This record gives sequence, C-alpha cells and structure tokens, in this order.
Amino acid sequence: MFYIRCGLFVKLDVFLTKIIISMHSIEQYRTAFISYLESRTKTKEPKNLYEPITYILGLGGKRLRPVLTLMAAEIFDKNYRNALDAALAIEIFHNFSLVHDDIMDAAPLRRGKSTVHEKWDVNTAILSGDAMLITAYQLFENYEVNIFHDLARLFGKTALQVCEGQQYDVDFETREDVTVPEYLKMIEYKTAVLVGAALKMGGIVAGASEAHQNHIYQFGRNLGIAFQLQDDYLDAFGDPKTFGKQVGGDIIANKKTFLYLTARDLASVEQKRAMEHLFSIYPKDATDKVNTVKEIFEQSSAVEKTKEAIQKYTHEAFDVLDKLEISAEKRALLENFGKQLMHREV
Ligand code: IPE
Ligand code: IPE
Ligand code: MG
Ligand code: MG
Ligand code: MG
Repeated sequence: MFYIRCGLFVKLDVFLTKIIISMHSIEQYRTAFISYLESRTKTKEPKNLYEPITYILGLGGKRLRPVLTLMAAEIFDKNYRNALDAALAIEIFHNFSLVHDDIMDAAPLRRGKSTVHEKWDVNTAILSGDAMLITAYQLFENYEVNIFHDLARLFGKTALQVCEGQQYDVDFETREDVTVPEYLKMIEYKTAVLVGAALKMGGIVAGASEAHQNHIYQFGRNLGIAFQLQDDYLDAFGDPKTFGKQVGGDIIANKKTFLYLTARDLASVEQKRAMEHLFSIYPKDATDKVNTVKEIFEQSSAVEKTKEAIQKYTHEAFDVLDKLEISAEKRALLENFGKQLMHREV
C-alpha cells in the first residue's frame, strides 16, 4: 500500500513538474504575441501621431525579440502570459528604433513597404517614434513594484546603449580607420544588447535568480552579434524579392560593416584602393558602386569570413547555455532558435 501511494505521489510530482515546465513552440509564442499586440494597438486621435505607429507595428517583421521574452519566462517556469507586456514593450521599442533608424539611414523600404518618413514625412516619423518609446516605458507600469523597478532599470540602460551604438554607426560612415573591435562594439550596442535584454526581461518577470538572468542575457548578446553580422551580410547579398529592405543600402551609405573591414584587410592593393574610393563618394546612381563592392567582398573571401564569424558567435551563445540549469527540452528550444537565425533570409 505504502509503495503504491509512494508511486502515485512520484507520478503526481512528475506530472506537476511537467505542467510547470512544459514549453510552447516558437510559432505558438509568435501567434499569442501577435494577437496581444493587435488587441493593444488601436489608432487614436490625433491620427497623424498614431496611424504611423499602427502602420509600422502592423507590417509584421519576425517578432524575434518578444518571442524571446515569452520563451525566457517559461524557461524559468512562469506562464508566458505574465511576460506579454514586457514583450510588447520590447517590440514597440524595437519598432521605434527602426522608424528613427530609417530616417538616419535614408532607407526607402521596410518589410517590403514604404518607411514611415517616406509614407508620411520626417517630422511625423520623429514624433510617432517618440510616442512609441514612451508607450514602451508605460507598459512596465503593469508590473508590481519590484519587477517594475528591475524592468525599467534594464530598459533604460539598454535603450541608452542602443542610442550609443546608433551614433557610432553614423560616425563610422565618414571614418576611414574603423577597426573590427570598434565595429563589434558598435553592433553589440545598437543590436545585441536588446536581444539580451529581451531574454533577461522574461527572466525578471519569472523571478529567475540573478545568475540565470545574466546567463540568459549573455546568450542573447552573443546571438545578437551573430544576428547583426547576418543582417549586414543580407543587406548586400539578400534577395531583393524577399529581403524587404533596399539591398545594397549599407554600401550606398558607406557603412563600415564586417564585410567591408575584412575585405579591406584581405583584398589586393588595387581592390582595396578602389573600395576605399567608392566608400568616400555618394554617386546618384549607385548600381556600379554596389556591384563592384559586392564583387570585392566575394573575391577577397570577406563573405566566407563573415559566415565564419556568424557561426562563431552563435556557438558562443550556445556555450553560455552550459551554465543554465535547464532541461534538455528547453535548451533545445533555445538552440533551435539560434540555428534558425543563422540560416534566415529575411
Ligand atoms: C532589424 O531587426 C534591425 C536590426 C537590428 C538588424 P529585425 O530583422 O528583427 O527586424 P524585423 O522586426 O524582423 O522587421
Ligand atoms: C539597426 O541597424 C539597429 C537599430 C535599429 C537600432 P541597421 O540600420 O543595420 O538595421 P536595418 O538594416 O535598417 O534593419
Ligand atoms: Mg538601417
Ligand atoms: Mg542603421
Ligand atoms: Mg542592416
């Protein structure tokens, strides 16, 4: 009798643990997030402030960061629904940064459609962007005081780093002596810290230990570096039909990407001279410039080196997972996410 009871208890225990830790798929997190986003973003008056916000948020995108927030909450044993406001804050902040980034990069296209400053005008894009940043902050008010404090603190620090990264990115356009370590710091700030913060916010909402919060942040930071390297690769070599952004935009704007910096080190003296000249001018028709630079990127094996760097940072992210005391199922979900990012085309 005792043994039977004991067996039952063990079974019950396993069952409860399973309920607590059972994860959803990436697609399920995405669908849940999108329906939450739709329920929270309605156009209000004045229309010229809110319509661009509904527009950019409605254009889709991969929704990577909010999915990571929801996933992290469940990795640390909290129902993902508790993390929906934090996830929404991250996605709204990300979209705010894109609206302003597109002004700064003079980008015509975003997610296959006109950018906000093209469809409306620059002033509208500035103010709608500002309103999005404020809305993101407000969403943290839905959490109790300790969680609110931790989320707001992480968010403030991260948002400022994103601004710093964006400034470096712009400064580098007109600098000829940018180094690879400087580039890596720039992309860490403009992109990777937000990926780390998205995950850490899930950890904060779930009440994970500080060590776990920091490990999941480092996982995201490394993944974010790989992600931006891939973004830079796709900016030059993506398929214009599916990429959704202007292919060659970084070359047109003289962005000092990993491709450029590596090609500068590895290309022949002549190619290096040609490339440096092309990266000091802004021709009206940039077709020749883009094609010549892409050829040099390929011939100098800068493309190969960039792909290697993407692998390296993705695997560094996976190595951090060794420090997390989580189930094999949860680890697999995170690794799967990283692998999908490595092979993305958009
Ligand atoms: C674009 O981010 C900006 C970068 C940091 C490269 P995403 O590629 O995540 O953009 P969406 O949200 O999926 O459109
Ligand atoms: C964007 O970097 C980083 C932020 C928006 C903070 P990019 O300028 O490379 O992003 P895309 O390529 O326009 O999406
Ligand atoms: Mg841009
Ligand atoms: Mg930019
Ligand atoms: Mg880019």
